[in-house]
Amino acid sequence: RGSAVVAPRAEGINPSIRKEETKVVDTVQVAELAKPLTAYCRCWRSGTFPLCDGTHVKHNKATGDNVGPLLVKKE
Ligand code: FES
Repeated sequence: RGSAVVAPRAEGINPSIRKEETKVVDTVQVAELAKPLTAYCRCWRSGTFPLCDGTHVKHNKATGDNVGPLLVKKE
C-alpha cells in the first residue's frame, strides 16, 4: 500500500489541549462506556476533550471548516 509523506503544517492543529504532552493519546474501553452513544472531539477545541462539547459548531461558523465528532456506539 502506498502512502504519501505529508510535511507537518507549521501552525499545527492543536491550539491548546495538553500541550505539555509530547503526543496526546487517549484509550477508550468501548464496553465500559456509560452511554450508548459517545461523541469524541476531532476539532481539538472542546473544553471537555477528548469528548465533544459542541465547540466545533462555533469553529465551523468562524472558519468555514466542516469538522465534527467521532461517534462511538456501545453495542
Ligand atoms: Fe470538537 Fe465537537 S467539540 S468535534
